[in-house]
Amino acid sequence: MSSATIEKYKLGLNLPSDPRWVNIAEKSIEDILIDHAFCEQKAASTGISLIVHFSDKKELVEAITPIVAEEWDHFGLVLKELKLRGFELGKKRKDDYAIALFKLERTGGARDAQLVEKLLISAMIEARSCERFRLLSLHINDDRLKKFYHGFMVSEAGHYKTFLGLAKFYMPADYVSARWKEYLIAEAEIMRSMEMRADRFH
Ligand SMILES: [Fe+2]
Ligand SMILES: [Fe+2]
Repeated sequence: MSSATIEKYKLGLNLPSDPRWVNIAEKSIEDILIDHAFCEQKAASTGISLIVHFSDKKELVEAITPIVAEEWDHFGLVLKELKLRGFELGKKRKDDYAIALFKLERTGGARDAQLVEKLLISAMIEARSCERFRLLSLHINDDRLKKFYHGFMVSEAGHYKTFLGLAKFYMPADYVSARWKEYLIAEAEIMRSMEMRADRFH
């Protein structure tokens, strides 16, 4: 894939990641892989929880079921990579980025509006993860990991599109676009306020 094609995986975030993050991340690849594994685990469990809470929404269940399978597959791939390198998953770590994002969730109101909040938060996590995978796939000094992260980048970009598409299926496009813009601004603020950490994916 050409670098021009790879450009499209920036996915319109308001604040691009600091490219120096790759340099510090690759020096602590054990922590990055562990954190990545937990991100995939969380993505699968968030998908399951959406299906559990909105089981009456046929289109949502049909669209998210294969995503859960993919996220679980991703988790397995990262576990395999950890094992190969002699690393262990260990105990769950606090995900400050996701915690901050979930604080933006508007609760109350119509059920579909509540669903859209959850879908937009998921889309946001996919977009930022995709952007970070893109950076790793381009700049990490390890050919195996370059390829590894390229695959994740493509896959998470697809998830991002599905979540945004679902949001527009359940609420009017204008409403979703306006709310998405607010999320983009708030997410950029979160990224700006968080220190750049070598041991975290976000
Ligand atoms: Fe994933
Ligand atoms: Fe994903």
